[in-house]
Amino acid sequence: MNPISSLETVENAPRKKSELIKAIDSLRRESNAVILAHFYQDPDIQDIADFIGDSLDLSRKAANTNAEIIVFCGVHFMAETAKIISPEKTVLLPDLEAGCSLADDCNTEDFAKFKEKYPDHFVVSYINCTAGVKAQSDLICTSSNAVDLIKQLPKDQPILFAPDQNLGRWVQNKSGRNLTIWPGSCQVHENFSEEALLKLKIQYPEAKVIAHPECQESLLDEADFIGSTSKLLEYSQINNYNSFIVITEPGIIHQMKLRMPNKLFLDVPGTDGCSCNSCPYMRLNTLEKLWKCLSDKKPEIKLDHEIQIKALLPIERMLKMSK
Ligand code: 13P
Ligand code: SF4
Repeated sequence: MNPISSLETVENAPRKKSELIKAIDSLRRESNAVILAHFYQDPDIQDIADFIGDSLDLSRKAANTNAEIIVFCGVHFMAETAKIISPEKTVLLPDLEAGCSLADDCNTEDFAKFKEKYPDHFVVSYINCTAGVKAQSDLICTSSNAVDLIKQLPKDQPILFAPDQNLGRWVQNKSGRNLTIWPGSCQVHENFSEEALLKLKIQYPEAKVIAHPECQESLLDEADFIGSTSKLLEYSQINNYNSFIVITEPGIIHQMKLRMPNKLFLDVPGTDGCSCNSCPYMRLNTLEKLWKCLSDKKPEIKLDHEIQIKALLPIERMLKMSK
């Protein structure tokens, strides 16, 4: 999927932000819908969501909501996961083009061929993958539970891990388990500038460096703490440190500043100072598109029934094994 501009105007959408927010609010109530949003969403969307969280929090929420409609403000694999967990619900994604480079680079057929080479391996896939890859997996993990889940597997069990090699390497180091890893990576986390990070560290010697495990190993080596988006938020909240250099998509900094207005949070630019540290897919969702999808009850996530059934098993296993 190719990201397109998120700045396009949406026909008939209220032009004033306050009216748009009011309209979204009444539509959500009238249609018994819940708005779930990931921390990388635009701040306006985070502010209007019923619930915000990391991939694990959001899957749990999708499993437990009483709402008839789930509007997933995140990327396609997240909405797809919600549909797999709650097949009886209508799951909407404001922009169907909101994909994920990591998930898109591991297609179902190539993954099946890769798997064939390791018939005795237990397949653990990161939740950032398509339903087709989930359906071929034994267990799904997220960045917040990957180490814990891998540690629970029998010591003599060979393991195949897909599709993020940076996360896989980090999990391997933390768990002490040897993993056969699919060579994928996230276009955003691959691109943080090490040079810019080192300059920030010199400029702010007191700042703690906190990083998402999808970052390259050389950047993770510089980090004081590594974890999922929720864990990065928690670390900055429960510790008394006052400044942080945050190596992940800067959407999370909105939550950090909201919850800790007196602390300093610095983002790290991409290489060549580009603004490619923002996830172009996550940012495709806008308040206008959220309004439109609640009005039209589309675009809706639809899945092949057989894939949906197969993909549910490893997700359920994850939810059972996660503390
Ligand atoms: P989290 O589960 O840590 O929120 O990560 C999701 C993601 O897509 C990271 O790029
Ligand atoms: Fe996918 Fe990377 Fe965007 Fe996360 S930040 S959704 S892994 S492209």
